[in-house]
Amino acid sequence: MNEEYDVIVLGTGLTECILSGIMSVKGKKVLHMDRNSYYGGDSASITPLEDLYKRFSLPGTPPESMGKGRDWNVDLIPKFLMANGQLVRMLLITQVTRYLDFKVIEGSFVYKKGSIYKVPSTETEALASSLMGLFEKRRFRKFLVFVANFDENDPKTMEGVDPKKTTMREVYKKFDLGQDVIDFTGHAIALYRTDDYLDQPCLDTINRIKLYSESLARYGKSPYLYPLYGLGELPQGFARLSAIYGGTYMLNKPIEEIIVENGKIVGVKSEGEIARCKQLICDPSYIMDRAKVVGKVIRVICILSHPIKNTSDSNSCQIIIPQNQVNRKHDIYVCMISYAHNVAAQGKYIAIASTTVETNDPEKEIKPALDLLEPIEQKFVSISDLYAPTDLGTDSQIFISRSYDATTHFETTCDDIKDIYKRMTGTDFDFAEMERKKNDIFGDGGDQ
Ligand SMILES: *[C@@H]1O[C@H](CO)[C@@H](O)[C@H](O)[C@H]1NC(C)=O
Repeated sequence: MNEEYDVIVLGTGLTECILSGIMSVKGKKVLHMDRNSYYGGDSASITPLEDLYKRFSLPGTPPESMGKGRDWNVDLIPKFLMANGQLVRMLLITQVTRYLDFKVIEGSFVYKKGSIYKVPSTETEALASSLMGLFEKRRFRKFLVFVANFDENDPKTMEGVDPKKTTMREVYKKFDLGQDVIDFTGHAIALYRTDDYLDQPCLDTINRIKLYSESLARYGKSPYLYPLYGLGELPQGFARLSAIYGGTYMLNKPIEEIIVENGKIVGVKSEGEIARCKQLICDPSYIMDRAKVVGKVIRVICILSHPIKNTSDSNSCQIIIPQNQVNRKHDIYVCMISYAHNVAAQGKYIAIASTTVETNDPEKEIKPALDLLEPIEQKFVSISDLYAPTDLGTDSQIFISRSYDATTHFETTCDDIKDIYKRMTGTDFDFAEMERKKNDIFGDGGDQ
């Protein structure tokens, strides 16, 4: 090594890989290293199934009924992509889509009083839904029409609502919507994790509902996409991209020292050699003294031999349990994928439940989700600390990503990427400017 780089990146989680890809495309000289022998760090996809058993220290090997170990790619942190969301835009900007095949998730569901229902987000679905009574449906339909027509540049569409002043609580009141409708709108459509948004100006919520509806309109069954063979394909796609732009990826590189002089990063030492750099991007595990614990998340990976009840036998789906429905502060999420996305053996399903930990008994907290999944063939439980940087990099030029939260979509990860980008370059991440070419993510003649 002993070379000089613009940017050194440590860790191959998605945040690091996307930033590394964007910096390469922008013409920066990038060196990307990971201490592990595999891509993905904490958010790796584990294959074969034997490795998952080892990782969770389960005794023995998977039973024969699990099929071939190599048919499994189990995400440690599963997330879906919104079809019109920020990650898809980033994949299109960097053209990593050419290395990936996506398939739409078959359903999006929400929990109400012990049962699950399809999330209605179009007028037709609202009218057909058994989630609401007749009058509630009509009011919800009016609300959806209002949101769809809302244009922040055209006061005529606002019906007296001020996007920067009127709170979302007031908007719900204007349409006379009840608590259950507010719960699923805020949590299963607008994808908020808590109820704090209710007292904020309504524009962000309106835009989130539009994102959901427009993503749904794109492929029909749900607003979510997921790559064939699992999320592990994403970092690998970025590694290939980086190679095209002259970047260097190295796995299996122990990091001995992060060298800081006069409060500023100068380089990284690995296997006795120093690579110099002007900026460093890394996940918190590489530099614990510049990060702090901001919470905990519990995730339970469950292997099933059946689709989840009351999901019309979907081979993949998301279920959101709004916090209010189970007397909590944070939502509980379930992501389910299966052999249909080439991540499990034939006839097998992987459901991953996750939530932010609020008590000393996290397994009890997540039980309402596990109850929906029974019978569960095998469970893998993890409780992890969530880290956030204490050093924002202004002086040190060290930029640390946040741990992946409990949400089952990538919108918060993308917010972190945009935030780091802004701190690194001093300019906003401007999608419009970066979108050289807008393709359908499936490319030509792709599979849905
Ligand atoms: C499934 O649907 C049945 C019939 O509508 C209902 O009685 C039951 O409560 C539902 N269960 C769940 C978990 O949604």
